[in-house]
Order: sequence, then C-alpha cells, then structure tokens
Amino acid sequence: MIVVLDLGSEDNTLIARELRSLGVYSEIHPHDITAAQLKALPNVRGIILNGGPNRVVDGVSIDASKAVYESGLPLFAVDHKGQIPQNLERWPKDAGQLRDTLRAFTFEACKAQANWNMENFIADQIELVREQVGDKKVLLALSGGVDSSVVAALLLKAIGDQLTCVHVNHGLLRKGEAEQVVEVFQKQLGANLVYVDASERFLGKLAGVADPEQKRKIIGAEFIRVFEEEARKLDGIEFLAQGTIYPDIVESGTKTAKMVKSHHNVGGLPDDLQFELVEPLKMLFKDEVRACGVALGLPDNMVYRQPFPGPGLGVRCLGAITRERLEAVRESDAILREEFANAGLQGKVWQYFTVVPDFKSVGVRDNARSFEYPVILRAVNTIDAMTASIEPLDWALLEKITQRITHEVPGVNRVLYDLTPKPVGTIEWE
Ligand code: XMP
Repeated sequence: MIVVLDLGSEDNTLIARELRSLGVYSEIHPHDITAAQLKALPNVRGIILNGGPNRVVDGVSIDASKAVYESGLPLFAVDHKGQIPQNLERWPKDAGQLRDTLRAFTFEACKAQANWNMENFIADQIELVREQVGDKKVLLALSGGVDSSVVAALLLKAIGDQLTCVHVNHGLLRKGEAEQVVEVFQKQLGANLVYVDASERFLGKLAGVADPEQKRKIIGAEFIRVFEEEARKLDGIEFLAQGTIYPDIVESGTKTAKMVKSHHNVGGLPDDLQFELVEPLKMLFKDEVRACGVALGLPDNMVYRQPFPGPGLGVRCLGAITRERLEAVRESDAILREEFANAGLQGKVWQYFTVVPDFKSVGVRDNARSFEYPVILRAVNTIDAMTASIEPLDWALLEKITQRITHEVPGVNRVLYDLTPKPVGTIEWE
C-alpha cells in the first residue's frame, strides 16, 4: 500500500485514485498518524505527503508527524509552493507530470507491485468479513441502490445464509425497482430477503405535507422506524452491514478538511441500534464499487444505475404528494429512461428524470378542453453534483418523449424541458 498523507490538500482523493488505477492500493491517512497506526497498516511501501510539509490549515501550521519522517519508508512530497525540507530531495524536477511522477515513485522508489485488482479485493473482503462475523447473523438495509446492492452480493458470497436483507418499499421508488430487487436477490441469488411494502404507511404520513424539507424528514424518519421494526422481529442479529463508500468517509470531514456534507451512512444511524457495523466497501471509490458489482455478477442496469435521491420520487412529485401525480412521475420517468436507453444515452448522461408540479394547464384532447398536469424533463451532467450543466438533447428525441408522455401517461397534457444549470437551479426541484 502507498499512504497518501492528508496535509489539507484538496486533491488527496485524486492521487489515491491515480495510484489505484496503476494497480497499487492506496489509502488517505491524517497528517498526525502515529508510529503504531502506521505499523498497523498492511504492507506500506511508501508515503506521499500531499500538499507538502508545513501547510497552513485554518491559520494553523501543520506538518507530517515524526512517525512519518522516521518511518524509513520512501517519502514523496507533492509541493505546490516549492518549500522542501532539507532531508528530502526535489524529485522529479518537472512536477507537472503527476502520472509519470507517481509511477516512478511507486514502482522505482517504493518497489511496489501492481497487483491490486477487483478479484483480489473481493477475495480479501470475503476473508475479512468471515473473520469479523464468525457464525453470527448480519442484517442489511437493501435499497436497490448501487452501494447496498454490491454489499449484498459480496456478503452473499462471504456468509450466504447468515445474511438477511430488508428491502423497504416506501412507495416512492421508480417503476420496476422493488421488483428487480426481489428478482435479483431473492430469486436469482437466493438471499434471505424480507420485502416490506410500506407504501401506504409512507403515503399516509406524507398526506397534505407540501414543504420539501418536511417531506424529506418524514421519509427519512419513517424509513428508520420501519427498518427498526423489521430488525426487532429477527432473532440473533449482531451485525449491521452498510454500503458506506470511501467518499462518504472523506466528505464527512477529515482532520484538515471541513465537512462537505453529512452522509447518512456515517453517523446518521440512531444510537440505540445495538449492532456492530460491517462495511466492506468503505475503502472503495464509486467507480470501483461499480467494478466490484460487475465482478460479482450483478446486472448492468443495477450497477450503472444513475444516482437516485433517498426520498425518491417524493421530491419529484412537487408539493403535497397525491397518488395521481405520483403515478404520473413514475410512468413518465419510465418512458424517459426507456427512450434514453433506446437513444444510447444510458450511462452517458449523469442524471435524468421527470418532475410533476402541482398545477394544471389547459389543453385540447379529442376535440375537447383538457385541464391536466405538465411533466418537466431534467437531464444534467456533473462531476460532483455541486454544479451541473444541461444535456443538449436531440430535438427529435425530445419530440418523441413528449409524444409518448402526453399519450401514455394519464392526466398529463404538456411536457417541458428544464434548461437551467446548477447554479442557479439545483438538480432536483425540491
Ligand atoms: P441538488 O438537487 O441538491 O442534488 O442539486 C444534488 C444531487 O443529490 C441528490 N439529492 C439527494 N440525495 N437525498 C439523497 O440521497 C436527498 O434528499 C437528496 N436531494 C438531492 C440529487 O438527486 C442529485 O443527484
């Protein structure tokens, strides 16, 4: 392993990913790592001081710990300002070639071997999970999203029957999603799956609630309640598996970086859930999680699923949710996804979905006046979801989607395409 030392740089993850893409495992660790912590890490071959020593973070000067300098390991300081401590040599002269530089440091100075790949990762994790869990039982909230699906597939390989998955259908999932979870995990992979159709319960709690944040809170809190109720029905569970991934940990705040956003998986669990955590993906980046899913044999449309918010269609059925508009969101979303797939856009556009507002407009259908809801189409590209640009969709495709939605989705007589980038709009409408 090569350690990337966090000295407050913003590109720690970039370097860690770059090393992994060279086939060498890497992890990011805090600048004040102790000798004991360093020793506990498996097979460390070198350390990258990313950002150089003596960095100032929030007005405080920080440096790598003594343990790092005294480790005897090859050290490489990535320094943008050019201050080099006396015991380090400037190498190479041209710091612009990050990839070549990293390659030279990794393979020549550290003599690391390019033997990190998904097959090894899976084999290691299976062993580690078996060691951690023994013959005890593990519970997993399986949402059908990429991360929890990959965890489920991995744990099924590792501990099979000792795993119980709970899939809570909150009634705000996309068309066919709950069915796919049951089909893939219960029927194809033979998992112990508890399927809870809590749609009515969620819709009941959400009835008449128009405020977006209130809707989110209700959905989140109710989700935990349903999950806890199901967990209490099961005997002898000692472990809770989670689809925590590396960016969840990094973005939840390090010693040098401020928290970007709190992640549900990191710290969002109720304190009284008395389980030990099993988090086999916590060191993987998102693209690595997908590669892991592919290697485990999960279907492509599950592994390359576009991001989907936890509150699901609940924040795309604007204002107070009604069954009629919720169905309009679900059906129009299914048409949009189908047409994007037909046009070869699946996996090429970052996120695309439909929104149904809570107002109607006048139209004409079968020579008579209609008064129905519009459907808004949204298709955006982004790297980190902090900013987003609009996908310039083909006009004929837009016309086809409009034709299908206005003829196949009951209660809809108009289709709009949202051209607003983020900022000023957000990706979702609520
Ligand atoms: P916004 O609308 O903030 O969305 O530009 C950025 C990304 O986050 C997703 N999103 C959510 N995901 N719970 C989630 O798990 C939420 O409440 C939520 N709100 C937005 C959104 O789909 C987009 O990918």
